[in-house]
Amino acid sequence: MKHSKNDESLEARISPLAKKTIVLGISGGIAAYKACDIASRLRQAGANVHAVMTQSAKEFITPLTLQTMTRNPVHCEQFDTAAEWKPEHIELAAKADLILVAPATANIIGKLAQGICDDLLTTIILASKARIMIAPAMNPRMLEHPATQRNLNVLENIYRYSIIPPEVGEVACGDWGAGKMAQVETIVAEVTAELVSGRSLAGRQIIITGGGTREPIDPVRFIGNRSSGKMGVAMADAAYSRGADVTLISTVEVDRPYPVVHVETAFEMQEAVESEFDNCDALVMTAAVADFRPMAVSAQKIKKTESEDIVLELTKNPDILDLLGRVKKPTQVIIGFAAESEELLSNAAQKLHRKNLDVIVGNDITVPDIGFGSDENAVVILSADGGKENLPRMPKRAIAEHLCDLLSERFMEMEEAPVAK
Ligand code: PMT
Repeated sequence: MKHSKNDESLEARISPLAKKTIVLGISGGIAAYKACDIASRLRQAGANVHAVMTQSAKEFITPLTLQTMTRNPVHCEQFDTAAEWKPEHIELAAKADLILVAPATANIIGKLAQGICDDLLTTIILASKARIMIAPAMNPRMLEHPATQRNLNVLENIYRYSIIPPEVGEVACGDWGAGKMAQVETIVAEVTAELVSGRSLAGRQIIITGGGTREPIDPVRFIGNRSSGKMGVAMADAAYSRGADVTLISTVEVDRPYPVVHVETAFEMQEAVESEFDNCDALVMTAAVADFRPMAVSAQKIKKTESEDIVLELTKNPDILDLLGRVKKPTQVIIGFAAESEELLSNAAQKLHRKNLDVIVGNDITVPDIGFGSDENAVVILSADGGKENLPRMPKRAIAEHLCDLLSERFMEMEEAPVAK
């Protein structure tokens, strides 16, 4: 596996949406406040975001907030004499790579389904050839109403529109049901998946593990470690954005649009990984799995004793990667991580070969502020074919994007020179 070396791909990893223009349409519902977070995340991912607000959206948030989040002027008026000679709806419609309407009220969904364009946002949408994504948000009874269902159905069946389904939960008015706008993370992941070039992992089954296992001592105590699960989530989000069928097996519970299997112990993680491994194309083990567990788990809380010391006998846990490295098919790719406090290179290289991995990502856990628990890391990536690459301190998501590049390169190589199954 060759590592791509150019700076351009580094920039693409840090800013997966660089050079993409997104029109973020905001209609008038309470979920409008979440549009600020969406705008900020899309901008941080490198996108050039232009917010367009309906009149009723301005009842919920101010254009100034969105202007600050997007760092672009906010557009509200259909007939703005102060604007350039070229009508804004034509200008924005033409330059958008994608139009996202979040939140989309029943009203705007109805207008779009009928082709009505009586404000700037609906006019831009009608005038654009960009992909359009709709994130509905409304009262559950409004969503259930046959008129809304029919309108959504019309949009879904028109080329270029896709619906990011609302979630079930308590909505702002206190009612319960489907109608809550999808989570910000889900919306950003869906938009990124749509825009990131080539959906290079489409159709690939990828298992990702994350977090630190907890090995119980008694009903109260456990042996654990400092892993927060952030690297696992970053990897799963990145792979999902590229179209992979992701399963995240993690000790940390997170809400995501892909399946997340929650486990606690090394044994549970082993069982979950093994049940999916046979059908997967790749396994990425970011998890910090406890090497040892207490020999016996006390059914009752262990009491203080007269004695000053207590002896805890430990026994070895299964090494999940080691076991799967032995049975992996030539068509499967395994990426391990190595958390090292000394001899990073040689220890990581040893694990790469001993566990029969394709790639190992080594991180020096003695460097403050990166690695465990942090949003950033600095790693060295070693490949079984001798490749070596240092990634300087960067967001875990950027490291994940890099690993996705490696995976897609590897899959491409396999397609070009098919290996025996
Ligand atoms: O979760 P975060 O806070 O984001 O932190 C990320 C991280 C620091 C946990 C991550 O970057 C990392 O280094 N993960 C690997 C930690 C680790 O357990 O390393 P290891 O050297 O002990 O294990 C090597 C590899 O074998 C790992 O892929 C591990 O998942 C796997 N392993 C280890 C033990 C075991 N019993 N079974 C395993 O499969």
